[in-house]
Amino acid sequence: MPERLIVVSNRLPGGGKPSGGLVVALHDAIADRGGIWIGAHPETGEASDTFEEVETTPYRKLAFRLTEEEQENYYLGFANSVLWPLCHRRGDLVDLQSEYERDYIAVNRRLARLIADMVEEEDILWIHDYHFLPLAYELRKLGVFNRIGFFLHIPFPSLADLSVLPTPASFAEWLASYNLLGLQTRRDVARCLEMYRSDPRAEFLPDGTVKFGMNVVSVRSFPIGIDVADFARAAAEPAPSPFGREEPDEYVIGVDRLDYSKGLPNRFHAFGEFLETCPDTRRPCLIQIAPPTREQVKAYQDITRELEEIAGRLNGRFAALDWTPIRYIHRAVEREELARLHRNAKACLVTSLADGMNLVAKEFVAAQDPDDPGVLILSKFAGAAEDMGQALLVNPYNTSEIAEAIETALDMSLEERRRRHAACLEAVEASDVSLWSSHFLGMLERCMPTLPVRRGAAGGGGEAPGGTGGSGMMADRA
Ligand code: G6P
Repeated sequence: MPERLIVVSNRLPGGGKPSGGLVVALHDAIADRGGIWIGAHPETGEASDTFEEVETTPYRKLAFRLTEEEQENYYLGFANSVLWPLCHRRGDLVDLQSEYERDYIAVNRRLARLIADMVEEEDILWIHDYHFLPLAYELRKLGVFNRIGFFLHIPFPSLADLSVLPTPASFAEWLASYNLLGLQTRRDVARCLEMYRSDPRAEFLPDGTVKFGMNVVSVRSFPIGIDVADFARAAAEPAPSPFGREEPDEYVIGVDRLDYSKGLPNRFHAFGEFLETCPDTRRPCLIQIAPPTREQVKAYQDITRELEEIAGRLNGRFAALDWTPIRYIHRAVEREELARLHRNAKACLVTSLADGMNLVAKEFVAAQDPDDPGVLILSKFAGAAEDMGQALLVNPYNTSEIAEAIETALDMSLEERRRRHAACLEAVEASDVSLWSSHFLGMLERCMPTLPVRRGAAGGGGEAPGGTGGSGMMADRA
């Protein structure tokens, strides 16, 4: 019987034709080999002992319900008010409440029970993101010894960041229960290995895998990408200008969920500094698309207010009767339209203070006309910067440096724009999302499955998760 792929992510993809690189890649991977996609139901309700079937074709989608209280404590609380700020270097925003961690573990434990009831021996599991760090740990306790891979979409925290957690030691233990731990960048892998190096429970095996108790985990970087050809096609599709009579002379674009990790206030201030130095004859615009996100969390309410104030102040100062320099759009824009907006922009601003990868940077590059491309201004703290050294790299904390980069981008010669774009495009193509998922799954399949511990063999009364006791990777699967 072929191995089924079971994907778990907090959000289930919507019905209909899948769109967006990640969803398409996972959709294709499940559709190809057969499998199931599991995620939280978008509406809260009664916690149940069974999954709800959401869709059955081309593969099954199963949802688990969160209670109102779990939504508060697990999703808004531990996931988005503890782990998210912690991994994005915002220890000052971490909100430690004991019920957050309690429900985070309770939700993962319940989900593990639901999965344990339906998993088949040959299934392989691919768990996504910080909502489910302890899922494999809980599954192993229930006797699930299938291959389980985990991909963290956000930055891996440093040792100092981790010490903010109430029980920092759990982090290393949870992650060691996976067979393969996928991270975005080499920098993330270095931080993860530093965590294990500093933990007396961990031992490095000769092949670089980490033995932790009886488990062996392989830690690798898999930089995530986009569906390059599809985005490029959408960008080049002819369509009437979305600006109507408000066509800007030239514009710089920014596209981000309205999150404090994206460095939006600095970006706006930097654009203001650039406007200071502009001759009166030049009328550039910043088109900022920033859809709302996690609005019930105070830190998000604060950043929304702050950004509105800055945009209002700068427009009040610089606008003319026939020119609005900052066009701030606080809602989502349809993907095809975004692609076209990217193509016509002179530059794109990505100023994240911390970012796992940043797919907007890759979308901008893919959307350009190679004969007359725009320029990517990219924070050196976004994962995308690791392989895109030919973007204009900036320190997002330094607004004058960003302002200078805007000027450099808008005045850059065609030859230099082409050269930089070609190098960035090569990097974007090398991480196309279809390659990303096949690399990850290929490596997960080569991992030695975790073996159940014989009663008494681990010295832990047979309760502890089992392991290989040897290398986590095999050259070939037997
Ligand atoms: C980031 C996370 C994803 C998350 C997305 C949207 O990209 O890595 O796991 O789904 O943000 O956030 P939301 O809280 O709306 O799901």
